[in-house]
Amino acid sequence: MKISVIFGSHRFGGTNHEIEKILKKYSDIHEFDFIHLANNKIEGCIDCHECGKFGQCILPPSKNDHFQEVYEKMIVADAVFIITPVYAVIPSRLTALFERMTSVLYYTGVMNTDNNPLLNKKVAIFNYCYNKICDDKEIKLIFDKFVMKNYRFDRSTYKYMNKCENPNEKYSNIIEYIQDTIINL
Ligand SMILES: Cc1cc2nc3c(=O)[nH]c(=O)nc-3n(C[C@H](O)[C@H](O)[C@H](O)COP(=O)(O)O)c2cc1C
Repeated sequence: MKISVIFGSHRFGGTNHEIEKILKKYSDIHEFDFIHLANNKIEGCIDCHECGKFGQCILPPSKNDHFQEVYEKMIVADAVFIITPVYAVIPSRLTALFERMTSVLYYTGVMNTDNNPLLNKKVAIFNYCYNKICDDKEIKLIFDKFVMKNYRFDRSTYKYMNKCENPNEKYSNIIEYIQDTIINL
């Protein structure tokens, strides 16, 4: 399976590095594309609505903006893993990615339609602080609208690849949880 792995952390090293090392053990089974937001800056949407005319975000790809590149890597992958630390909720670059995805899908008229390129995409979302597993429900709720036609606003109803209700009862740390998800894909 071709898996795009988006790491939300803004720093190299740390837990994201440990997780990447573990995932690499499965490189003979899966083709990973590791995307670190630490070196993929994503600016906020400027609400220009130009994506509605051009079919894609017109903020130029540059060393300061990698939205289009990251977005396209999600579209071409068989599965997307979003692995993010808690940053007083969500890291700002990941927030900006979600913000721009919302605009592109909405203004191009594909959100909630069969033409959404992310509709029914296989997705796993993990949230952590150091090696502790944190609640992923908020991020899953946000992400539902990118992958579903009939999403709701009060709770996530999408079938994510990692769907353990109380992962802290089953796993002792985030690495175990991610590893188990990969093994059972
Ligand atoms: C800007 C910032 C905000 C953070 N906010 C929180 C927080 O509100 N709650 C928490 O438990 N940890 C918080 N942390 C700690 C990170 O979740 C933790 O350091 C995590 O391991 C970082 O991921 P990394 O090791 O892959 O870089 C914050 C860290 C940063 C840099």
